[in-house]
Amino acid sequence: MSAGETWLQLAYLASAVLFILGLRGLSSARSARRGNGLAALGMLVAVAATLAAQDVLRWEWILAGAIIGASIGVLAATRVQMTAMPEMVALLNGFGGAASALVAGAELLEARADLLNTPVLDMALAVKLVAIVFGSTIGSITLTGSLIAFGKLSGRLGGAPLVYAGQRIVNALLGAGLLLLCVWVGTGNASLLEYAALVGLALLLGVLLVVPIGGADMPVVISLLNSYSGLAACATGFVLGNSGLVISGSLVGASGLILTRIMCEAMNRSLGNVLFGAFGAAPEAAAAAAGGGASAKGYTPEDAAVIFGNASSCVVVPGYGMAVAQAQHAVRELMDLLENRGVEVQFAVHPVAGRMPGHMNVLLAEARVPYEKLVEMDDINPQFPETDVALVIGANDVVNPLAREEGSAVSGMPILDVDRARHVFVIKRSMSPGFAGIQNPLFFNDNTMMIFGDAKGRVLALVDAIKQY
Ligand code: TAP
Repeated sequence: MSAGETWLQLAYLASAVLFILGLRGLSSARSARRGNGLAALGMLVAVAATLAAQDVLRWEWILAGAIIGASIGVLAATRVQMTAMPEMVALLNGFGGAASALVAGAELLEARADLLNTPVLDMALAVKLVAIVFGSTIGSITLTGSLIAFGKLSGRLGGAPLVYAGQRIVNALLGAGLLLLCVWVGTGNASLLEYAALVGLALLLGVLLVVPIGGADMPVVISLLNSYSGLAACATGFVLGNSGLVISGSLVGASGLILTRIMCEAMNRSLGNVLFGAFGAAPEAAAAAAGGGASAKGYTPEDAAVIFGNASSCVVVPGYGMAVAQAQHAVRELMDLLENRGVEVQFAVHPVAGRMPGHMNVLLAEARVPYEKLVEMDDINPQFPETDVALVIGANDVVNPLAREEGSAVSGMPILDVDRARHVFVIKRSMSPGFAGIQNPLFFNDNTMMIFGDAKGRVLALVDAIKQY
């Protein structure tokens, strides 16, 4: 190994260590920012080392690409709303998949030239061909799957699952066709037209596999596609013989899979149910049954102020509605006010509250709610029977007691036991169901008081009412 090559491998090793430290940092809200910084530094080291070690023919192109890409990235990242973050991640995954597929395609052209000069397929060329096929296929599926996920999340395409008779058979047949093409192209005997057919079929499958999935399940799909984009990048690493890319691609692939599993477990659904269950296609019968004819009681912030005036503990449960209303700063104001009056305030964060992992943590961190006030589900649940007030702000499914019973869309999903608190206030705009499409019996309980309206406006009104109490 030449000295240059040794330095390059050492740089890749350093960047791999930085990636792993970065991932470790991302496991807690407190260290997430540092973790992100370390991972970005790792990427900088890897890119710089690659550029320094390769025969770069035209620096202008690389610089122009870096400047254009970085400008778009900075603009998009600073402008994107927190609620639109999953859409942005979907696009980034898609582009990552496309990049891997394009590199694999370019390398195929080169490999074909090598094949003409090598009568017998040697091991190195065989590995390269397999990696090319893998990168092209997974990269193409990731591209179109991510674009459909983006369309569904952003409302450009309807969020409802698109299902039709024989859908799984059609997908299975296309999948089998794609597999055959993969094997054929992998032998090195395929024509360019046959390779184009492979890419075309993979692009089509990306669309067909994601259209039957409901818009609200897209965060799980995006996490899975994120993992795919990592696998495609890993394959590209093999194609290029670049160990840095192999390591970073495998890390993305593995962490995406782990996140997918965590999300499925927190919803008590299998990955198969998310991918093939067409969740959200039809409203659940349980919607009408909840409440058993009782009506939910509407209260004003002034009514609530009386109860808060006599409370000594409060657990705030944020949900998707808090994100929609951007109520986190108002919630922080409420927390400060209550604490000044001697009320102990904690936040109960459900692992899938909102629409993306860590959604609530990020919003509350933005409003500078101290990390130690955020309590995880397993730790807060035993405390609810001793809690004076549970204040549910724009959350629904994650506090739905139907989860404890059989036969509903949320059955078996671990929930926050707010119904066991002495008083429960729920701030939401109407009796509309949440993501799971089912009504919530919590709203009809004797100890539950609904405060209808936009979360931000209602929390601010509650702050005023408590000040005047
Ligand atoms: P949801 O069950 O979706 O309920 C949110 C509630 O917020 C709705 O009932 C809505 O009622 C209310 N709301 C909307 N806009 C509001 C506003 N401006 N002001 C006040 N309230 C507002 O939310 P959740 O309890 O956070 O549960 C999350 C759901 O998403 C779970 O079912 C979970 O499985 C699913 N999910 C989560 C993830 C991740 S990773 N977080 C990924 C995939 C799926 P109104 O319309 O009446 O106001």
